[in-house]
Amino acid sequence: MRLATLTSGGDCPGLNAVIRGIVRTASSQYGSTVVGYLDGWVGLIEDRRIDLYDDAFIDSILLRGGTILGTGRLHPDKFKAGLDTIKRNLDDAGIDALIAIGGEGTLKGAKWLSDNGIPVVGVPKTIDNDVAATDYTFGFDTAVSVATDAIDRLHTTAESHNRILIVEVMGRHVGWIALHAGMAGGAHYTVIPEEPFDVADICKAMERRFQMGEKYGIVVVAEGAVPKEGTMDAGLGEEDEFGHKTFNGMGQIIADEIKSRLGYDVRTTVLGHIQRGGTPTAYDRVLATRYGVNAARAVHEGKFDTCVALHGENIELVPLESAVAHLKQVPEGRYRTARTMFG
Ligand code: F6P
Repeated sequence: MRLATLTSGGDCPGLNAVIRGIVRTASSQYGSTVVGYLDGWVGLIEDRRIDLYDDAFIDSILLRGGTILGTGRLHPDKFKAGLDTIKRNLDDAGIDALIAIGGEGTLKGAKWLSDNGIPVVGVPKTIDNDVAATDYTFGFDTAVSVATDAIDRLHTTAESHNRILIVEVMGRHVGWIALHAGMAGGAHYTVIPEEPFDVADICKAMERRFQMGEKYGIVVVAEGAVPKEGTMDAGLGEEDEFGHKTFNGMGQIIADEIKSRLGYDVRTTVLGHIQRGGTPTAYDRVLATRYGVNAARAVHEGKFDTCVALHGENIELVPLESAVAHLKQVPEGRYRTARTMFG
C-alpha cells in the first residue's frame, strides 16, 4: 500500500511524533510506503510532496516541535475548488489512502474529501484541546506545561513588586489551556471564553488579596475571553480571511481596566506562540505516537471515514463526522471547581 499524510492548520508539539508513528507502522508492520505532502492542503493541491522513509531521520523527529512537513491554512472555498486536482494528484502519485493530521478545520476538510470518495483517516491535533471526539488532543499538555511554567515564574516577580500580573494564553473558542494552567499555576483568577466575565469580580478578588496582606495577584486570561454584556467596553475584534475572529488583546484590556479601577500596578504577559513551539512533553509524545500507529493501522484495515481518538486509556476509531460535530467546551462544573481556588 502507498499512503500519504499531511499536517494542516496551526502547528502543535507532537506532530512529528505522529508522522514517525505512521511511517514506522506502515513500513515495518505492513511493508507500505509513505508520502508526505508539504504545507497542508496547499501542498496536496500543488502536488508538492516528499517520500518518508523509516530511517534515522524519521527516528530523530520524535523530540522535535513543529512539523517536518510544514503546515498552512487554506480557505475552504479554494480547498473545495481543488477537489479534481486533489483526486488527480493522489491518483498520479499512486496513493491509496490519506491520513490528515489537524484540528477542527482540517478534520472538516478531511470529512469532505471522504464524502467525495477519497479514503481518509483523521488524527486530531490542537493545543486548544477542543476536538469533541477525543478526551485529549496532543500538544495540549505541552501548552499547559509552558503556560504553567510561565505562571510559576510570574508569581515571584509579582510578589516582589506588589503587582497584578495578567497572563494571556491561547484559546480562541475554549478555555482549556487557561483552566488547566491557571489551576496548576495557582492563579488567583482565570477567565475563559465559555464564561463571560465581570471585571468587577476580578477587581474584588484582587482587592481582597491586597487587604489580606497578599499584595500581588496573577490573573490568567484566555485570548477569546469575553466580558459580560454591559460590564465593560472591550472593543470588537475583526475577522481574518478564514473567518477567524482576530483578538485585540483581552489581557491588556483587562489590565487597563483593573488599573483604572483599583490604581494598582498591573502588567501583562502574552504567551502567544511560545505555547505552540518547542519539544513536546512526554505525555504528548506518547499520545501522538499512539495516534500515528493507530491511524496507520486503521488505513491498512480499510477503516476509512474515521478519526483516531483517546477514550479513557484507549485509542479508538470514531466516525470523522463526530470529530467535527461540535467544539469541546469547558463544562460549567469544571469552571466552578476552578473558581473555588480564586482569590
Ligand atoms: O491552534 C489554535 C490556536 O492555538 C488558537 O488558540 C490561536 O488563536 C490560534 O491557534 C493562533 O494561530 P495562528 O497565529 O497560527 O493564526
